[in-house]
Amino acid sequence: MMNKLKVFLFVALFWSPVVIFAGEGMWLPIFLKALNESEMRDMGMKISADDIYNINKGSLKDAIVHFGGFCTSEIISDQGLLLTNHHCGYGQIQSHSSIDNNLLKNGFWASTLSDELPNPGLTATLIDWIDDVSNAALDGVTEDMSSTERQSAIDKNLVKIKESYNLKSYQDVQIRPFYNGNQYFAFITTTYKDVRLVGTPPESIGKFGSDTDNWVWPRHTGDFSMFRIYAGPDNLPAEYSEENIPYKPKHFLPINLKGIKEGDFTMVFGFPGRTQEYLPSYAIEQIVNVLNPAKIEIRDAALKILDSHMRTDEKTKIQYASKYARIANYWKKWIGENLGLIKTKAIDKKQKYEASYVEKNANHGERLTYLPKFNSLYESITPYAYARDYYLEVVGRNVEALNLTSYLRKLVNTYEENGTEEYGKYKARLENYLTDFYKDYNPEIDQEVFTKLCQMYLDHLESTHYPSMFTGNSDISQIANYLYRGSIVPNADMMTDILNREPEIVIATIKNDPLYALAEEWNEIYTDKINKPYQEYNVQIEELQRLYMKAQMETFTDKRFYPDANSTMRITYGNVEGYSPRDAVEYEAFTTLDGVMEKYVPGDYEFDVDEKLQTLYNTKNYGQYANKEGKLPICFIGSNHTTGGNSGSPAIDGHGRLIGLNFDRVWEGTMSDINYDRSICRNIMVDVRYILFIIDKYAGATRLIDEMKLVK
Ligand code: ARG
Ligand code: ASP
Repeated sequence: MMNKLKVFLFVALFWSPVVIFAGEGMWLPIFLKALNESEMRDMGMKISADDIYNINKGSLKDAIVHFGGFCTSEIISDQGLLLTNHHCGYGQIQSHSSIDNNLLKNGFWASTLSDELPNPGLTATLIDWIDDVSNAALDGVTEDMSSTERQSAIDKNLVKIKESYNLKSYQDVQIRPFYNGNQYFAFITTTYKDVRLVGTPPESIGKFGSDTDNWVWPRHTGDFSMFRIYAGPDNLPAEYSEENIPYKPKHFLPINLKGIKEGDFTMVFGFPGRTQEYLPSYAIEQIVNVLNPAKIEIRDAALKILDSHMRTDEKTKIQYASKYARIANYWKKWIGENLGLIKTKAIDKKQKYEASYVEKNANHGERLTYLPKFNSLYESITPYAYARDYYLEVVGRNVEALNLTSYLRKLVNTYEENGTEEYGKYKARLENYLTDFYKDYNPEIDQEVFTKLCQMYLDHLESTHYPSMFTGNSDISQIANYLYRGSIVPNADMMTDILNREPEIVIATIKNDPLYALAEEWNEIYTDKINKPYQEYNVQIEELQRLYMKAQMETFTDKRFYPDANSTMRITYGNVEGYSPRDAVEYEAFTTLDGVMEKYVPGDYEFDVDEKLQTLYNTKNYGQYANKEGKLPICFIGSNHTTGGNSGSPAIDGHGRLIGLNFDRVWEGTMSDINYDRSICRNIMVDVRYILFIIDKYAGATRLIDEMKLVK
């Protein structure tokens, strides 16, 4: 209660009445000084915007690393030691695992640098600097251009901008649209290519609570793993080599061991993937009523099949663990998102916002046309958007053999369009991919998924949208039998054998393959009858969204607009705080090891606790990692606005020190990508003291602790 009063006073004293957005927003590091610094200081930050982003000296941003392009990680020692989530390193951890040497199950701790495990293909990208290139990008662009003319003018400008940079051979520049294409920013990056696995707790810690607890608070997961960036002798990016040495960073994060309390300032620094905070109400109606339910039901069916096999077979469990987690993650998120959007009356809220937009623009004829246009465009696009999601979920993702055909199509096209040399190069890459693919593939399971999902496709889509093989055929299981027996695609040995033959034979065999033929026809139907009309409407929606975004910014001039997430570097900040999800329920902000033991179910695949951790708990052997009450902290939550891609992001205190590792959001707030609501949107972080406890007391990997800079 005390805390709520404080928050209230804070709001009353410091914030102007219209600008109550703290907590909400993913801000660009280059504008922190102008837009956020004073508010951040009011909220408890002690360092300056300059300490966070500075191109003349090492600053916080130099410790923030885009991990593999899909997660965030941070450097926590002067030897390039990286901290990220267990679920971010999952693919790598799994790829080093087998039944005999199961890193997922047992964890892994390299005892020396030379025991750290290379991960071909894994990258670590640093941001050297960021430029606002809006003027140059939009040079010569006028409002009377058609969207194609506009895009082609911008594309030409972007090429010129890229050329104007005098980059080093290891640097790259990415230019991205912001505010739906109203502004452009350039990110100059350096990407390291030798990133090795250093350590990971067993899944029983790193994924404790698994899918049941995913997206849920209270949480007790030690969701972390450790990697290291290696560089050439000159400290610059280099391909993997035994001679490479640990990277020396410009900055690394010191670690705060003192702990945090309710109300403390926190910021989260990372690479959030995608948000859509400025959509019209029609778009949210489409998501809530049509698209989310479709995707949920497809994945629901696929997951049930995978689960039934994983529970009964240890090998299948390893093979499908990563795939299952990936499918389940967004399946569950969409369920939570829909519940949250409905519960917080997001559509209503948007409609009210739109009403005030209309009212304020009574004299702007042009701006008043946008909402009715959206209405009609969303009405037109919805059947295609629905069919498109269905196709992409069934063919493009959940039926693995169908998904694989897109690679075969690329092989055929490369041969026919670019000749044998290019064919040979692509084939070599494909063979690598296939080795990994078949290692974790079970054709019987896939056939079951095919049967179920194709049946659903048939039941839900118009006949003009499905391939001829399905027409007039009510029994998909027969078709599936025929395809999975007669095709080389689900058969690893046959596929490997065929790929070793002469190119003409390979191409002819693929083209005659029944499953490939089905996928080809299906792909054509998708391209012509689904995706083409979809894109025609979508181009118009995007163009309108750009105008509407601009109009919103010009209409509500007292509101601070942050750009939607687009996988670029951002900062968000808030406080450590609990929340009240519904009447009479209050969630505290912290969990402890006691809670792990409360959830413990012996032998369970989600809630088992191994003996070692139990012993540490029973003997209270927490060392310097205990909190003031003598308990071991596990996770905490805060009002930082995060999204997918922020996983592995550091939670940083007011002094620029690491206090935790972001990995999830709470169930009631999963709709934050579309409708952020400070009262119930919280991000979930692992307390850094739990991470250090596991490394030190549980794993005995003290050489890693010695590398870090601990502040007590
Ligand atoms: N929900 C978190 C995120 O979106 C964590 C996902 C990984 N954990 C899991 N059980 N699948 O990525
Ligand atoms: N778990 C997410 C991630 O992997 C973070 C989130 O969606 O909150 O990036």
